[in-house]
This record gives sequence, structure tokens and C-alpha cells, in this order.
Amino acid sequence: MCGIVGYVGGQDAVPVLLEGLHRLEYRGYDSAGIAVRTKTALRVHKSEGRIQQLEAKLPARLRGTTGIAHTRWATHGEPSDRNAHPHVDCESVLAVVHNGIIENGTALRAELEAAGHTLRSETDSEVLAHLIEAAEGDSLEARVRRALARVEGTYGLLVIDRASPDRIVAARNGSPVVLGVGDKEMFVASDVAALVRHTDRVVYLDDREVASIRPGGFSTTTLDAKPTTKTPSPVAVTDEAYERGEHPHFMHKEIHEQPEAVERALRGRLDRDFGVAHLGGLNLSARDLLDVRRIKLLGCGSAFYAGLAGAHMLERLTRIPTDAEPASEFRYRCPVIEKDTLYIAISQSGETADTLAAVREVRRKGGRVLGIVNAVGSTIARECDGGIYMHAGPEVAVASTKAFTCTLVCLALLAIHLGRIRDLSPSDGKRLLGALERLPGQIREILDRGEAIRGIARGIMKRQDAFFIGRAAGYAVALEGAQKLKEISYIHAEAYPASELKHGPLALVSAKTPTVAILPDDDLYEKSLSSIEEIRARRGPVIAIAHDDDSRVREAADDVIVVPRSEPVLDSILMTVPTQLLAYECAVGLGRDVDQPRNLAKSVTVE
Ligand code: F6R
Repeated sequence: MCGIVGYVGGQDAVPVLLEGLHRLEYRGYDSAGIAVRTKTALRVHKSEGRIQQLEAKLPARLRGTTGIAHTRWATHGEPSDRNAHPHVDCESVLAVVHNGIIENGTALRAELEAAGHTLRSETDSEVLAHLIEAAEGDSLEARVRRALARVEGTYGLLVIDRASPDRIVAARNGSPVVLGVGDKEMFVASDVAALVRHTDRVVYLDDREVASIRPGGFSTTTLDAKPTTKTPSPVAVTDEAYERGEHPHFMHKEIHEQPEAVERALRGRLDRDFGVAHLGGLNLSARDLLDVRRIKLLGCGSAFYAGLAGAHMLERLTRIPTDAEPASEFRYRCPVIEKDTLYIAISQSGETADTLAAVREVRRKGGRVLGIVNAVGSTIARECDGGIYMHAGPEVAVASTKAFTCTLVCLALLAIHLGRIRDLSPSDGKRLLGALERLPGQIREILDRGEAIRGIARGIMKRQDAFFIGRAAGYAVALEGAQKLKEISYIHAEAYPASELKHGPLALVSAKTPTVAILPDDDLYEKSLSSIEEIRARRGPVIAIAHDDDSRVREAADDVIVVPRSEPVLDSILMTVPTQLLAYECAVGLGRDVDQPRNLAKSVTVE
């Protein structure tokens, strides 16, 4: 979703800002803009469309050492030059870029217009420029604080002002703002991706915090002007992690990075002597964990599906009742929060608004929440009581792949950890750790079958509809497989528990609807084979993702993608990989924008 970048220092701000915007492109956007304080004026340029269109519009002699820039993903008002950020006040002496939603924007707009302000866009964000213009105060930050006191809603905000040279004021409430500390220069952005080329020392603003940023440093206060103390922390991610390298798409890169990502997720967390997992960030003692009577996993989209698969692992290894729920629905049903329930929020970005709101709802009612998060230092990671980092590395493609598998690895580690506190024997623990260690090699084996999977995808991409079926944790894999296929190839795909086929979807099965069947060699294997036969009896083509390529599977399915055997609780990890490749190959074959599918953004920071 929207991205913000700011620079103040000795360099020419324009290239720094544009490069920062390019780094944030992956989040999705439909217009872009830049404001630079030149020697004499405040210059603002904006354009609907790609950053390249903005670049084409910029005058060659646009120079200044202080500036802010934005990529917008439309919420209030259509994508257009007029609605693109930065927005300026009536006199064009100050400029703002804003991520978030101003909930009382309509009322504030009416009030400002009645007071004589002329607003030029349809956005809620423009209101901020005029509120700051109208606010009194002896400094830009004082005026920003006063203006924000009137605002209800969320913001990640940067402001520059012609009258305040070498200064950016930033503020945050519900939308991330990160400062990057340089040598006599400062950077600021909504995402560390835009900073890592320049610095490895960052400061995350907290909600209702305002920063005054100058080349030599920064100071922070709360919204009511009380000074706060912030210490820069190191960022481990390097600039190369955001490069596509030799890969045709980021999604291709991220699918193929999974062996290393899983190795990172496991590193330092396996105690082979005792068959236990070390999870230092949980902040819960064995005694605390013994009191857990129920586990609830919360996440959106693929993170929710990972939660569904993880719930099976957790319940099986710990015998603690566990379920998963979409975080986007959770708070709206006024959930009962129990003190012996362990809540776990799952989020790659750590910024998903609905997941964050679910975390806050649990904590507000006195519950404990752990986070399984990829982005280090993100809001969800910081607001949870403890957690496990995925260590998947930056995920740039909109469609989640390596974060999904790393989430399941983290949940498997947690399940072993909790299981070993309860009834899981040391030998079972050791066996499971051994199986986890084999995963990277087994994922490589699946990736090596990419060519065969491409051939199978050619059959699917000719169709308009597809089914995915599975049972138990395999149903979660089916949901994720269908999600991947529809979001990047735009082929309509639906997932069903195989047991539900006869209760409705069989009516739609025909020679034109391929079904991808998740077929692990588990207790339900025979039943799943029968479901496949029902589909074949209606001439429906079946692609089985199975452990065996034996005569029974061959007879049952038109195509088989063989996945190495693991511990049954880990099957969902391995069986997901072919579904990612199928979706990827279909999308490439259909000429889709694989990394930035239509209408979708990488990090959904609005409700
Ligand atoms: C699908 C996808 C989305 C995200 C969802 C949650 O491929 O990526 O469904 O999984 O928007 O995002 P995070 O994990 O960042 O909270």
C-alpha cells in the first residue's frame, strides 16, 4: 500500500527520494509524487501511474537537500494527478505525504472550507496540510502536533515547510514510520526497504509520536509534547535482499529461496539432545505454557491459511484445542478473551491493519498474544507479548510464498516446544527435529521438478475454473493453493474439503474444471482416493500432489506431482510448494503481472 520516503542532509534529495520510491514499488500503488525544498521555493510534482511517469515530468534542474515523496494506493478519491501526494496548503508553503485514513476527514474538510481554505483534491490527506497551515505554534513540529490533536484516524505523516529549512517533521499513529540515521543526513520512510541502501541504523516511531528530523539528528515527543527517548537499532537486512537478481520475478526468487529461508527459520532453534526447540522470544516460561488450555491463531489471507494448517500441527503434537480465525473478522464479533488461551497473530509484514487490530483487542481485554512475524521491528512484532520471527528475509512479491512455509516451520517449532512440555516424548521430539532439518533438501527436490510442474500448469491455464481439495491440514494447503492461483493468474479457483465434494461442488465438476488434490499418505488416504474417483467419474481432470507415484495414484489422477515423505505433521509444508509453482507457471503462461497482481497490495495497512 502507500509508501512514504523523506530525506534531509547534504545530498541532492531527488535521486535519493526516487530510489526510495522504487524500493517501495512492491507494495502496490497507482500514483506518485515528490516535494523538494529548493533554495527559493517548495516544488511539488505528481503523476498518476508509475514512478517512471513522475520521473519523466520532473524538471532537470530540480535541486534541493530536503524532500519528501509518496506512492499512493487510492482509498479516498480515484487515482489521478490531483489526488496524488504530496498535498499542499493554500499558499503552497508546506507539503505533506500521508499513509492511513483520516476518519473525521469529511467534517474537518467542511470546517476548513467554511474558514476559507481551498482544498484541491478529493483526498482525506489534504486536510492535514490545511490543518497544519491553520494551526498556531512556534515551530513546525508544534503546529503539526496541534493539528494532529484534531485528527481521528491513522497516519504515517511527513511534513516539510518552506520556512523551516533542513527539517522534516514526521508523525505516526497506526501507520509505520522508520527513521534511518546517516552521517550528517537522515532518511525516513514507511518501510525499511527504502532505507537499507543508505544506513543500517534505524528508529521506529511509536503511535502518537512526532519526530523533528534534521541532518545532524532527530528529536521525538509525544503528541502532547512530552520528550521521548529513542535509541537506533541495527537492521540485519541488506540491500541485495531486495534485488531480483537473475530471477524473472520476485515470486520466482522467493519460491526458490525457500530452502535457505527454512534453514534460517530453524537456525539456533533446535536442541537435538533433548528433542526440544529453543524459542527465546516467547517471553513465556514452561510454567506459563503449562497453563495454556486453548490456542487461537489469527491472520489474514495466506497468514490465516497458514494458521489453519498450523492449528493441525499444534493440536496433534500438544493435544491443546487449537483453531484459526481470520483476524479481519475477529474483533467484530466481540470475542471472549480467556486468560488460559494463547493467542498467536501471524503476519509477514507485521503491519496488516486487521491483524494489528486483533492483537490490540486481545491485549486490551487482558489476553496474551504471541506474534509470528517476518518483518523485524514491525508494529505487530512490537505490540505482541512475545513471538517468533520467521527469518524468511524480505518478501517483495505480493503473493506470499516463503513467508507461508516459514510460518509453518515456526508453528511446528512451537508445537514441538509446547508438546515437549506436555506429553511429547524426547524420542518423538528428536524425530520431528530431524524431519524439520531435512525440509530444506526436500524442498530443493520439489523445486528440481519445476519443468514437469510447468507442463502440468499448461493444462490448468487454459481453464477458467479450478478446484483444490484436501482433508484436515491438506484442506489448508488446498485453500492456500487456490488463493495463489486466483490472485496471480486470475483463474477462478475454489478450495473444498474433499469430504464436502458430494455436498455441492460436484455439480460443477466437468472435463473443463481441473482439480488439484492434496493427497498425503495419511489416515485419510483411502478416502481421498475415493473423492478423486468421484471427480474422474465426471470426467474432471485431476492433478494429485502425493508421496507416491504408484499404480493406484497413477490410475486415480491424470498427473501426479511427487513430494518427498516427511513426518505427517509437516506434510503441509512440502505439499504447498508445488501449488506455488503451479500458480506461478499459470500466471507467467498467461502473461500476468506476477509480482504485482491487479487490485492487490503487499502490505494491507488499511481496514
Ligand atoms: C496472499 C497474501 C495475502 C497476505 C495477507 C496478510 O498471497 O500475501 O493474503 O497473506 O494480506 O499479510 P501479512 O502476512 O503481511 O499480514
